[in-house]
Amino acid sequence: MSLLELDGVKVHFPIKKGVLFDRTVGHVYAVDGVSLKVEAGETYGLVGESGCGKTTLGRSVLRLVDITEGSVVLDGTDLAKLPGEEMRRFRRRLQMVFQDPLGSLNPRQNIESILSEGMIAHGIGKDQEERREKIKAILDKVGLPSNALARYPHEFSGGQRQRIGIARALVLEPDVIICDEPVSALDVSVQAQVINLLEELQEELGLTYLVIAHDLAVVRHISDTIGVMYLGSLVEEAPSDALYAEPKHPYTKALMSAVPVPDPEVEDKRERILLTGDLPSPANPPSGCRFHTRCPWAQAERCATERPQLRDIGGGHRVACHYAEDIASGKLSLNQGEVVPATREGVDDTPEQDAEAEDAPAKVPAQAEKVSEDEKPATAEKVSEDEKPATAEKVSEDEKPATAEKVSEDEKPATAEKVSEDEKPAAAEKVAEADEESEKAV
Ligand SMILES: Nc1ncnc2c1ncn2[C@@H]1O[C@H](COP(=O)(O)OP(=O)(O)OP(=O)(O)O)[C@@H](O)[C@H]1O
Ligand code: SF4
Ligand SMILES: [Mg+2]
Repeated sequence: MSLLELDGVKVHFPIKKGVLFDRTVGHVYAVDGVSLKVEAGETYGLVGESGCGKTTLGRSVLRLVDITEGSVVLDGTDLAKLPGEEMRRFRRRLQMVFQDPLGSLNPRQNIESILSEGMIAHGIGKDQEERREKIKAILDKVGLPSNALARYPHEFSGGQRQRIGIARALVLEPDVIICDEPVSALDVSVQAQVINLLEELQEELGLTYLVIAHDLAVVRHISDTIGVMYLGSLVEEAPSDALYAEPKHPYTKALMSAVPVPDPEVEDKRERILLTGDLPSPANPPSGCRFHTRCPWAQAERCATERPQLRDIGGGHRVACHYAEDIASGKLSLNQGEVVPATREGVDDTPEQDAEAEDAPAKVPAQAEKVSEDEKPATAEKVSEDEKPATAEKVSEDEKPATAEKVSEDEKPATAEKVSEDEKPAAAEKVAEADEESEKAV
């Protein structure tokens, strides 16, 4: 049995309407039947377009959102059925590292207080003295000095804050860490340091990771197995190397075709599959195969009416496509969409990608805002990434020496002054959010 097994997990958020009486007028099918297994000591990478349900799936494992249907089994125990108090105890074994390191750390608490919180809640350490010693040891493991204890989150760079987020998870000695976009808020130069740290910690402590990312390059580097999500479901799953060598699902093929290849000769010949149409709304997903509205190989009738199951097609691949074998053998050819040479024009079809293409790894195109305002439930807590405040890390990381992992003793209580006046109120607003998140997470 695998350490973590998800079976048919669904998370449907009700869409409410009405001024006096809330009526449920529909659902956002954020996660709609995901089954996957994460082996002990391994890393499962989950990729997909913005809004496809990756974060919701991660949160459902920790029961930070209600599971509509399905089971989440950790080491033989179905978490979906656990009563509140027992689930709270299980949370120690499952920890989450969040995308936005600043937003997930309470700016009013110093690092010792942030890291002690979960330990106190779970009865770790007989007194603060013992907890402090443990925290110091963990800070050392993640490359931060013990004098970080008395400092506040805003005094650290983005990369350092993410190390604090990792330390907060580690002090509870979890079995599984869910990393939700752990490096996407960081500069490219710092991303590799944090990914390497995660790998080193895994080796040393035997950790198991579920890493969520929209950055294919990040997931490839760190994952043993990769799952590709589209509109709330897995469309393909395979060992990392097999998935990159030969993607089998049309959606995965299109994603992979957008990844630049470092070899200039291969890169010159690379062809890009351009998808037509927008990502449909998860409140109103297409019938049949959810990808049929954009699939270049879609076949009349069957693709629009029959939902393909994730099935084993050999070579380690599980694929949710009726025609995976025929597409792989070339028996079926493209009937919509376009294959273009991946020249700069071909690759850079959005201004955002233009700017990043030079040095950043390829990203799954961001198409988050597909749920129209009307469809969004009043209770939606989701703040789009674009709205998140620009934090100081973008400035500070470049200025830091390459050995930025260790904060030197005489380093000035650093980035405080770099947080501009504009950013301060925004950081303060995040207090409530961070409070709520950390309360739930412990
Ligand atoms: N609490 C909520 N209430 C209602 N709808 C929600 C809630 N949380 C997420 N959603 C909706 O569920 C869908 C999936 O969101 P989710 O945050 O899981 O996507 P994601 O793949 O993590 O995207 P991103 O890459 O942008 O982080 C989106 O359409 C989102 O609007
Ligand atoms: S089932 Fe049909 S629409 Fe879906 S991915 Fe396969 S070919 Fe495309
Ligand atoms: Mg997300």
